[in-house]
Amino acid sequence: MARMAGSRRPEQRLVIEGGVRLKGTVRVSGAKNAILPMLAATVLTSGECVFTGVPRLRDVAVMETILRRLGAAVRWETGPDGTGVLRVSARNLSSHRVSEDLMGEMRSSIFLMGPLLGRLGRARVSTPGGCAIGPRPIDQHLRGLAALGATIRQQGAHIEAEAASLEGTEIHLDIPSVGATENLIMAAVLARGTTVIRNAAREPEIVDLQNFLNRLGARVRGAGRDTIRIDGVRRLGGAEHAIIPDRIEAGTFMVAAAITGGEVILENVIPEHLEAVIAKLREAGVGITEDREAMVLRVRWSSRPRATDFKTLPYPGFPTDMQPQVMALAAVADGTSVITESVFEQRFGHVPELIRMGARIKTEGRIAVVEGVERLTGAALDAPDLRAGAALVLAGLAARGRTVLRGVNHLERGYERFEERLRSLGARVYRLAWPPSVGSVAGGRPSEGGQAEETSRAAWVAG
Ligand code: EPZ
Repeated sequence: MARMAGSRRPEQRLVIEGGVRLKGTVRVSGAKNAILPMLAATVLTSGECVFTGVPRLRDVAVMETILRRLGAAVRWETGPDGTGVLRVSARNLSSHRVSEDLMGEMRSSIFLMGPLLGRLGRARVSTPGGCAIGPRPIDQHLRGLAALGATIRQQGAHIEAEAASLEGTEIHLDIPSVGATENLIMAAVLARGTTVIRNAAREPEIVDLQNFLNRLGARVRGAGRDTIRIDGVRRLGGAEHAIIPDRIEAGTFMVAAAITGGEVILENVIPEHLEAVIAKLREAGVGITEDREAMVLRVRWSSRPRATDFKTLPYPGFPTDMQPQVMALAAVADGTSVITESVFEQRFGHVPELIRMGARIKTEGRIAVVEGVERLTGAALDAPDLRAGAALVLAGLAARGRTVLRGVNHLERGYERFEERLRSLGARVYRLAWPPSVGSVAGGRPSEGGQAEETSRAAWVAG
């Protein structure tokens, strides 16, 4: 498990030797953005919740710590297939406060407000800061909770919410916010009467949350469509639930196959959750065959990808979480692509890093114009956030020469054993303590996790 922030370990970097066509089979992990709201939902019940197919991610570790500090019992086990099993019991909650350090560590913990209000009638969180991809406001969350009857007081960086009881009501979201939809569903399941959420987000992770809550005894209907109805119940029980596969991790491995000119089989994938990504990659000339029954996708490179335009939109539109990765593919495509990021305010942190590798990209506001080049060149790069970091790994896999990437901690937030699974597909990607010291670049190939030998860093990185 990734260690918590604060326990300062030596800096680590990824070293990637580009040019290998990925080949083989990879099993997709459980969805980060499904397990996170479900872990928050465990606060609603004193019953035991057992999740299977749980990815071992940094963000899951943060949510685990938040739950333990609230008084819940959380225990990891390993399932028969080697994937994570999380047992959570929030029978004895001793606090309604989500500590500031953990809110800063993971802003999406804001969706603990709904469950805490539903179970305890109180919640105290800190305003989650913005992050590399935008200011990340929470007005939709707070408006909806107030509509359900919560009194919300903002005191500096803290938000206190109280509700003697939550009353079902009709809420119309200004934007189909994923987190606000999840927060309000969770607040409404124990409210008195019926709540209707209109202009709700439609992501598959919200459908998975609905299925889990209904297993606990809640009465939620309509997730996956833009109107969700929740009939409040008095209490919830326990349940076991298998997490849906991570569609963004799957999409990331699909682009890894396409950008390296390889052929990869993905197991444990739900193609319906990836329709916009599959359509766009096919438009770019990538060969994709799907077996929905067997939950398998085969991705095969056939020729240099063609340039394609796309615009990120709420589900089922093209997912914003795949924009950086597909931009990396566009950077080496034949032609010019116009990419519009309509969901987040500033999700182009990967652009200056791709330009350092020789990409030709111009941005204006939320639009990026990418003129494809034949080949990128490895460089020393900084990952500004999770998905930008993934995009830079993909670019490094395809580039000529060596790439050294800082910001491994970002990757650990959303990709389980990322470099290990890429290596299983033939990639030459290694994690090194930095600065390198004796031992591991002998022959120009870093050993896995070893210490690199004493060399001048600039010369070494330049390869
Ligand atoms: C969820 O974030 C995901 N995170 C994000 O994935 C994903 O990019 C995003 O949904 C969009 O699909 C989790 O599920 C844990 P939003 P969330 O509320 O809920 C604005 C990843 O890489 N907004 O749908 O925070 C907001 O600023 C992460 O896995 C308001 O204006 O996203 C943004 O522009 C990154 N007011 C837009 O809506 C609000 O109250 C979409 O945000 C809330 C949001």
